[in-house]
Amino acid sequence: AHLYGELRTNAAGLDLTDEATLRPLDRALQAAAAHEWTAAPLIAGRSPAGSARPIHDPADLRRYVGSVIESSRTDVEQALSTTHAAASAWARTAAAVRAACLERLADLYEQHRAELMALCIREAGRTVPDALSEVREAVDFCRYYAAQARALFDTPRRLSGPTGESNHFSLHARGIFLCISPWNFPLAIFTGQIAAALAAGNAVIAKPAEQTPLIAALAVRLMLLAGIPAEVLALIPGDGSRIGPWLTGDSRIAGIAFTGSTQTAQAIQRHLAERPGPIVPLIAETGGINAMIADATALPEQLVRDVLQSAFASAGQRCSALRVLYLQEDVADTVLAMLRGALATQVLGDPGRLSTDIGPVIDTTARETLEAHATRMIADGRLLARAELPETCAHGHFVAPAIFRLDGIHELETEVFGPFLHIVRWRAGMLDEVIDAINATGYGLTLGVHTRIESRVRHIAARARVGNLYVNRNMIGAVVGVQPFGGEGLSGTGFKAGGPHYLLRFATERTLTVNT
Ligand code: SER
Repeated sequence: AHLYGELRTNAAGLDLTDEATLRPLDRALQAAAAHEWTAAPLIAGRSPAGSARPIHDPADLRRYVGSVIESSRTDVEQALSTTHAAASAWARTAAAVRAACLERLADLYEQHRAELMALCIREAGRTVPDALSEVREAVDFCRYYAAQARALFDTPRRLSGPTGESNHFSLHARGIFLCISPWNFPLAIFTGQIAAALAAGNAVIAKPAEQTPLIAALAVRLMLLAGIPAEVLALIPGDGSRIGPWLTGDSRIAGIAFTGSTQTAQAIQRHLAERPGPIVPLIAETGGINAMIADATALPEQLVRDVLQSAFASAGQRCSALRVLYLQEDVADTVLAMLRGALATQVLGDPGRLSTDIGPVIDTTARETLEAHATRMIADGRLLARAELPETCAHGHFVAPAIFRLDGIHELETEVFGPFLHIVRWRAGMLDEVIDAINATGYGLTLGVHTRIESRVRHIAARARVGNLYVNRNMIGAVVGVQPFGGEGLSGTGFKAGGPHYLLRFATERTLTVNT
């Protein structure tokens, strides 16, 4: 029962309709705008000097947010040697002590919530509700992995065996974990990986996404304040393609937690396979070409609301987001007309405003890749609907959300990571072909189903090869401990983040047999 944590509770939210709640956030947003945010390599609590690269708000590039000093080869070497020297003392620290640090961190995140949210909004273009969820998820990860570590690590389990022999089974830290996190959840995923690795007794080298080092630096400052020894946690900001290989190729790295693209995960796996030294685990959480199947019994209003959230919330920049909606022919015209209407009501703009539904995409590369996709779709005559970009979006990385028509999911070769929904029509009697086509992508992250036929839910659940299946609701926003999150196939290795087995991947198992 301890693994499944029945007594757990998740972080409380905020009432965003309450003026009194919003006032501290407004103040934090103003303070964030005035503050000079900085990030730099942080090794044993110290940062080197160096030339800094400016970071601008993706919603308005005229707005300067802060600057980052990127890691040099020397910084990476120092991070490796420092964490290597400190790893075994941290591994021998009682799990209860490690867990207490993470619980203090959760409290500190709640105390600094407005500041953390402001930076998620300004550096990563997260909307207010997204930024709030992000702090809650980060807090949940800390408390959840702390509870798991207490339950799993401190006491070896006694196993029964023949008389005259005692057998004990225990979990231990592996050494240094390299945690490579993405920009789309710059606080929650960054924190989740590190919290799990630390809870299991590993030292950590954290490599945040190059787009979001400022929020990572703030988080690491709070981690040290929470009592994580400075030698045990190094922050190495910088461009992954440059500094990644220095780390993944080093035999002192005892495991890697990676969230990002499938291609990068595959490159890391190849690199690990070729390096000398121990064979180590890669925990990869990657992308998906996620679908939703809606049949003629779906409730149209609910379907439209859930599709809108699943495809366009966070500007579609979630690995869980809906990319391909399979609509049953009989209701397709009605639902499409409603979706067009709903899309037109979406407010695009400054993510710091509560009225905004869709903020910017992260950077120029993302915007150009998405626009190239839209251009191809439009040239092929596949455009079904597209929202207008208001004037206020002129200075940021905004992409107008759109709906395109496809003949099948196989026409998308890769994940389209932005506010684009594709619609495929299917006819009654073709359900198995639809499921086969979705499975054939090779990805297996999320799948949505909208139907009122119970046997159909069981039928799909038995055949779909996906990590998270959502029925009659949206398909984003997995909650720690409630919907353990992660996929299979091209979508990742498992175990699921926020799930009862995640910590085990960060540990090694030992058996002690004594002839008494
Ligand atoms: N955990 C996130 C979600 O469920 C991943 O994108 O939406």
